[in-house]
Amino acid sequence: MTHPLMAPATLDNGAVLVMRVMPMPADANANGDIFGGWIMAQVDLAGAVLPVRIAKGRIATVAVNEFIFKQPVSVGDLLSFYARVLRVGNTSVTVHVEVYAERNPANLQMVKVTEANLTYVAIDGEGQPRALPRD
Ligand SMILES: CC(C)(COP(=O)(O)OP(=O)(O)OC[C@H]1O[C@@H](n2cnc3c(N)ncnc32)[C@H](O)[C@@H]1OP(=O)(O)O)[C@@H](O)C(=O)NCCC(=O)NCCS
Repeated sequence: MTHPLMAPATLDNGAVLVMRVMPMPADANANGDIFGGWIMAQVDLAGAVLPVRIAKGRIATVAVNEFIFKQPVSVGDLLSFYARVLRVGNTSVTVHVEVYAERNPANLQMVKVTEANLTYVAIDGEGQPRALPRD
């Protein structure tokens, strides 16, 4: 369901909204833009949402690929993180994460600011890869 005041819950490519967050001044660099490292941490958190559900337990990030910063992010942007599963392997799940910023409340715009591919591995109590549940 789409609300007229909010970014949609899904994208046309099937990606689903997994997280929303608004950066604060403490997350900005000297130029006033948001640190790339802060955005990467949020993408890592958002990217883990679907793999945790598929793995039904503990996971670890094994790889981050094709991380693209398309547009700067500003304090006060409302960031929406959308994820879709690209691949389910024996022990790993690869997802594509897209980040959109809602900005300029007087004339609301939704701008894609970042995208990346991340791979997570299901791990056991010793931190070793474990097979994904198949049920
Ligand atoms: C995650 C970890 C347990 C995997 O152990 P590993 O011995 O490298 O695992 P394997 O080589 O058996 O690979 C496991 C899966 O990861 C995938 N994988 C490994 N390296 C990869 C890479 N660079 N890119 C994409 N997938 C990768 C493999 O293809 C395999 O997937 P599959 O079983 O679905 O085919 C281990 O690398 C680790 O502990 N890394 C640190 C994790 C961490 O601390 N992350 C937080 C960020 S610092």
